[in-house]
Amino acid sequence: MKTKIFITTALLGLFINLSRAGEGMWLPLLLSQLNEKEMRDMGMKITAEDIYSVNHSSLKDAIVLFGGGCTGELVSTQGLLLTNHHCGYGNIQKHSSLEKDYLATGFWAQRMEEELPNPGLSVTFLVRMEEVTAQTLRGVSNSMSQKMRDSIVSANNKTIIKDAIKGTHYAAQVKPFFGGNQYYLFVTEVFTDVRLVGAPPSNIGKFGGDTDNWMWPRHTGDFSMFRIYANKDNKPAEYSKDNVPYKPAKHLTISLKGFKEGDFTFVYGFPGTTQEYLPSYAVDMTAFQDNPIAIGLRQQRLDIIDRAMENDRLTRIQYSAKAAGIANYWKKMIGETKGIKRLDAIEKKQSFESAFQKWADSNPETKAKYGQLLPAFSKYYSGYVPVNNAYTYLTEGLLGIEMVRFANSYTNLVKQCADKSKTEADIKKISEQLKASAVAFHKNYNPIVDKQLFDALMKSYITSCESSLQVPMVKETASSYKGNMQAWSNDLYKKSMFADSVRLLAFLSGFDRGDSRKIEKDPGYILAKSVYAYLFDDFAPIVNAFNATNDSLQRLYMAAQMEMQPEKRFYPDANSTLRVAYGNVKGYKPADAVGYNWFTTLDGIMEKENPEIYDYKVEPKLKELYNLRDYGRYADADKSMHVAFIASNHTTGGNSGSPVLNADGQLIGINFDRCWEGTMSDLMYDPDQCRNISLDIRYCLFIIDKMAGAKRLVDEMTVVE
Ligand code: ARG
Ligand code: GLU
Repeated sequence: MKTKIFITTALLGLFINLSRAGEGMWLPLLLSQLNEKEMRDMGMKITAEDIYSVNHSSLKDAIVLFGGGCTGELVSTQGLLLTNHHCGYGNIQKHSSLEKDYLATGFWAQRMEEELPNPGLSVTFLVRMEEVTAQTLRGVSNSMSQKMRDSIVSANNKTIIKDAIKGTHYAAQVKPFFGGNQYYLFVTEVFTDVRLVGAPPSNIGKFGGDTDNWMWPRHTGDFSMFRIYANKDNKPAEYSKDNVPYKPAKHLTISLKGFKEGDFTFVYGFPGTTQEYLPSYAVDMTAFQDNPIAIGLRQQRLDIIDRAMENDRLTRIQYSAKAAGIANYWKKMIGETKGIKRLDAIEKKQSFESAFQKWADSNPETKAKYGQLLPAFSKYYSGYVPVNNAYTYLTEGLLGIEMVRFANSYTNLVKQCADKSKTEADIKKISEQLKASAVAFHKNYNPIVDKQLFDALMKSYITSCESSLQVPMVKETASSYKGNMQAWSNDLYKKSMFADSVRLLAFLSGFDRGDSRKIEKDPGYILAKSVYAYLFDDFAPIVNAFNATNDSLQRLYMAAQMEMQPEKRFYPDANSTLRVAYGNVKGYKPADAVGYNWFTTLDGIMEKENPEIYDYKVEPKLKELYNLRDYGRYADADKSMHVAFIASNHTTGGNSGSPVLNADGQLIGINFDRCWEGTMSDLMYDPDQCRNISLDIRYCLFIIDKMAGAKRLVDEMTVVE
């Protein structure tokens, strides 16, 4: 009898999929329906309504989409916001120069007046969300083409959005879920006066650098602080000296109480993209075609840039953010492909697919609807893989050459000059804007480095990208130089004004309409124009046609998977909308005979210290505090200073900066990464290996308070001990 019960629950677990504790990025709106019970069983003490409510303030009012791709959380009544150091990095960098190098020294505004504005940076609050599937799909039928369907959907969504924001200052979006089987409306409020308040020096905020990135054990103090400013009515406003700190409807309470292995946690933020419901062919393409190509091209760029940075301090400042950006997904892709292999993800998908085919064929109705789906996918991917590879060679290769991207930004000027209806004043305005962006570009550009990138990337492109899918102009020019890329680049970087900031600025300063011819004759411009023209005019239509086919196949496959497993609780793939992931604080075993503890400490920073290695230099002031063991109220009960911890929350890119909350909904950490062994969770989650990495909030406050001496900021926060 006992065995029988055991078997039934085991089977149930398999099919209902409740066994994968930690998996899923859930819609806040549906928590009460789908997750609340489980969350409470796991230890949560607050309610779903405390997390998301439209009727009164809830935790959601303390969460923002930070910039385009990170999450931030409000921690005071004065609009004070926490996110990652790597999320604020670009802005910290923009305020930095050789004389005032905030990346190296850190930055702490002593008073509000010293907080630094960041043009172009915005934060977005979710006001409310609502399912609108019926309205979005009004007039859509299953038999119509994907193109027809897309155009009706987009027209319907325009109306939904218009109605939703009528008479307000809000913005709105409708986004597809479950491959376009469901749609949700998101009404948002966007603030654009967001100022830098503080950031630790890079040897804290980026400690471990790219060496430790995506890895556990981790010791990175990856946080930075900003403040949202609003007008006198607490509404969004462009930057103005008269703006005042924003008063949020909710800010998070910070817990210094500590936590232990097994404790319930949840992550509340804006995960970017996951693809959990793809067929095996797609996963195979990503892991074994796309990733290896992109990894190879990024490796070449990194080798060149890293060497240049080693040798020159200015180059290090200019290229550190770029290198970090390239290295980040380079490493992620390596981990992802390894993880897919280790998890036998392809085989798992294939065995699901045979069960799926059996199920589909088992009854005439499902057979008619879904019987041909997998063969269609198989055919689709055999056609798509070469196209996708060429696309990757183009975007990761040719577009890795900075001059190509930069020169392309002059197309608009050329176009306006040719347009008779534009006045000299119109043209002057554009050339002035380009002048400003040229200054910004050249501040962080070294033509010698870029020329080396050109040589390497061009060579790979010409030798490895499928010949019939190469940019014709690139192919011809390379062959006119007999494949000698250096001969090509010698000419190009000597002749093009885009490589020479002095020449370019002089050119722009005296610019008038007739000078447009000179741009058109510039070899850098000719190259850029050819690459982008091919990409947009020739290549994009091919890719779009494939995408349309994929969209309709994937939509059907998603619907079919849901129909096949009516008992399973499905979560939608991440799409940069607000989600809740929940799990437990937990270590893991990355390899045979190896076990990882769930937290790291300041002692580990001292163990890693190496003055010879840039990533492992320890901030002298931090060392002093360590030597005194002066941790104050931020120490753990075990007397040590906890730095980072891991848990089984299902997160992805975009969750950076997300608050990690305890059972009472109090802030205990800031999410900033995932463990390498688990980076395949964007395609398939493994409860044994997938862990999110978070900064312990106590280390963050310790740095602000004891190291930076910015007690005014800690005093603003609501802290429970
Ligand atoms: N891996 C983290 C993320 O995906 C951190 C990236 C920033 N750090 C870096 N070394 N590149 O965003
Ligand atoms: N660092 C990532 C980010 O910027 C989070 C890591 C991940 O992909 O999980 O969002």
